Amino acid sequence: MKPGMSLMKHYLQFKDLRAEEYAYLFERARLIKTRFKNYEKYQPLADRTLAMIFEKASTRTRVSFEAGMYQMGGSVVHLTTGDSQLGRSEPIEDSARVISRMVDIVMIRTYEQEKLRLFAAHSRVPVINGLTNEFHPCQIMADLFTWLEHRGSLGPEGIDLSALQGKVVAWVGDGNNMANTWLQAAEILGFKVHVSTPGGYEVDPVLAGIEDRSCYQVFADPLEACRGAHLVTTDVWTSMGFEAENEARKAAFADWCVDAEMMAAAQPDALFMHCLPAHRGEEVAAEVIDGPQSVVWDEAENRMHVQKALMEFLLLGRIG
Ligand code: CP
Ligand code: NVA
Repeated sequence: MKPGMSLMKHYLQFKDLRAEEYAYLFERARLIKTRFKNYEKYQPLADRTLAMIFEKASTRTRVSFEAGMYQMGGSVVHLTTGDSQLGRSEPIEDSARVISRMVDIVMIRTYEQEKLRLFAAHSRVPVINGLTNEFHPCQIMADLFTWLEHRGSLGPEGIDLSALQGKVVAWVGDGNNMANTWLQAAEILGFKVHVSTPGGYEVDPVLAGIEDRSCYQVFADPLEACRGAHLVTTDVWTSMGFEAENEARKAAFADWCVDAEMMAAAQPDALFMHCLPAHRGEEVAAEVIDGPQSVVWDEAENRMHVQKALMEFLLLGRIG
């Protein structure tokens, strides 16, 4: 951390920020997106460097962080397990101490959340979760921003997060990192998640890190989970790191495909979301992901805008 920066924050899980901070970030993301669309130069992070550490594959996370940092005037260092000492058993603590002396902010995509926590505990600079086995907070931030753009209030009078209160999100599929993060978001922002997973793949509230279990309700039947929902969302049946379970999962998840019948059970203006990459014919029918209720391309693009707001916040604090 450079001199002058005091209250250093990390973003390791969704609950690391409060509702009021999300309202601020969405407001900044809206402004930053508008500037980007208008080709207005905005480079508050000139001379700042982001290190991106990937221990798992990525398209969206890499492109959105890298393009976003360059657009804000900064630069990027890209590291993977295979081309750094991270893959040759250098302790995480040592890697954190070294990398954080040379860059201003770090984004990590890895396996156990504990590795991320350990890195952050020994880092001099803010650390962002770019996906772990347990959480994917940057994606949920983008999803919420997308939801507000389509169904909420993102007008000149500011962000009204109360638009989300009392709403229902249907989660159909694996009780994975995305599901856990949706639960944290529901607890903080006051909406409810209707969760339907096959037996053996349930969400675990302790692992998900939620205290108020009224923020979600479990449904055995995915169609019932979708009934009346304002937003229907799903994710791959097999997340990165669980590939050995692929065949067993294909059998277990066969009935957890978001199809037209499930969308018809939801609110007439319900949105469909998927963090991508998607497998048409597995977790989602092609007619749904490519249909009129789907906002998946906006979700992907908004990763960049919300992460630019997040990096600005972690490095410069509140603007204005
Ligand atoms: N949604 C998401 O994080 O995509 P990538 O795995 O391509 O980064
Ligand atoms: N749950 C998925 C999300 C990919 C962006 C995974 O962890 O592989």
